[in-house]
Amino acid sequence: MDILLGLQWGDEGKGKIADILAPKYDVIARFQGGPNAGHTLVFDGKKQVLHQIPSGIFHSQIANVIGNGVILDLSILRKEVESLKERNVDARQNLYISEKAHLILPTHRLLDAAYEQERGEGKIGSTLKGISPTYQDKIGRNGLRVGDILTANFKEKYKNLKSKHTQILTRYEFEYNLDEAEKAFFAAVEFFKTFKIIDTLYYLEAQKAKGKKIVAEGAQGTLLDIDFGAYPFVTSSNTSAAAACTGLGVAPKEIKEVFGIFKAYCTRVGSGPFPTELLGTMGEKIQALGHEFGATTGRPRRCGWLDLPALRYAVIVNGVTQLFMMKSDILDDFDEISVCTEYQYEDGSRNQEMPYDTEQKITPIYTQLKGWNNFDADKVKSFEDLPTELQDYMQFIEKYLTIPITILSYGPDRKETLINEKMVF
Ligand code: GDP
Ligand code: IMO
Ligand code: MG
Repeated sequence: MDILLGLQWGDEGKGKIADILAPKYDVIARFQGGPNAGHTLVFDGKKQVLHQIPSGIFHSQIANVIGNGVILDLSILRKEVESLKERNVDARQNLYISEKAHLILPTHRLLDAAYEQERGEGKIGSTLKGISPTYQDKIGRNGLRVGDILTANFKEKYKNLKSKHTQILTRYEFEYNLDEAEKAFFAAVEFFKTFKIIDTLYYLEAQKAKGKKIVAEGAQGTLLDIDFGAYPFVTSSNTSAAAACTGLGVAPKEIKEVFGIFKAYCTRVGSGPFPTELLGTMGEKIQALGHEFGATTGRPRRCGWLDLPALRYAVIVNGVTQLFMMKSDILDDFDEISVCTEYQYEDGSRNQEMPYDTEQKITPIYTQLKGWNNFDADKVKSFEDLPTELQDYMQFIEKYLTIPITILSYGPDRKETLINEKMVF
């Protein structure tokens, strides 16, 4: 099994790459996260955002698996499935849902909003999709799972958990009306009863036995990992490579390539430390050129220069074997590009490590590299055709991280991608 995941704060372009690599695989599987993800695919002049469905769904010969580590909002999933019909895709055919994936209830979304409201200034900037309360219930051994919808007493199980939630909600000054959301939830429950709800562990095992190739598609990014991100400004799951094992039931020894995706610069949506953030016009320029607005919430993404100590940290956590650099086109227009290579602390000391105390003031130390300005996509057929300055930029990163960049993405469309022949999968 190979793994494809984000090395920054999410939105690196995982959806685009998963869609491109999908034809080289037989199975594509999501292993963590839920509808907080928004993965964008662009082809045939149209854009499609997927939240919970793996990004291989447009390839009918590929099995798309939602693993046990994912948490699912069935109302949102139903809308996603219905939106695929416009592209003549029937997800009932090639979507496999783990019976062990936990369910996001309408009250989980309310709790998410209540907890965020209580945090006030210190809010995480959650997508408010119910992620943290659902994972809390999973770890607290209270949750409901997809397989439960097929049991006779599902309504009772639902009622019990809902009543736990509404009791908690009485402690908050929080008004709500659940009618619409519950109606949609139960309609979605009925809708999915006819889908392939299976033990995905055995399904994946059978595929492996037949020699089929599997790729795991991460959600969020390594710097949002519950253990390795800047806690508490993180999401509520492990987003790093190890989670592909627990989120799918695939043994660590099965992992071969780990593809680490990063943008040629950095973005972050939501609160939390961001050492290389550009607060002035430069940040606004990147935001405008990169259309940096969230695919799930539409919120503007904070923008900044590439942060190599942070990227190095993500490479270590995941055991990345190949790097994919995204959105180089957004930097086409800069005479000079800064890259952070070290952090400096208030006492003057410097290093290349992610600090424990993320509240402290960190000054990024930059190296300036020349911009390429003259990228002509029509002339670029291989890495050797790239402008020298872009090659220098990539080599600078490769040297720092000691890992090759084997895919370069220079536009949102499937076609705007350069794959190095050295790429292994
Ligand atoms: P994901 O969550 O990692 O799948 O990424 P998102 O879909 O949230 O955000 C990435 C955004 O960048 C989407 O709007 C993509 O269509 C777009 N995108 C991906 N690769 C490129 C690229 O190389 N250049 C440009 N300009 N846009 C890209
Ligand atoms: P994809 O898969 C970017 C961020 C939120 C917030 C924090 C916690 O599209 O890359 P949560 O809703 O998980 O409780 O929010 O994590 N976040 C993401 N940022 N891309 C994502 O997913 C994200 N999923 C969550 O903005 O800061
Ligand atoms: Mg996204």
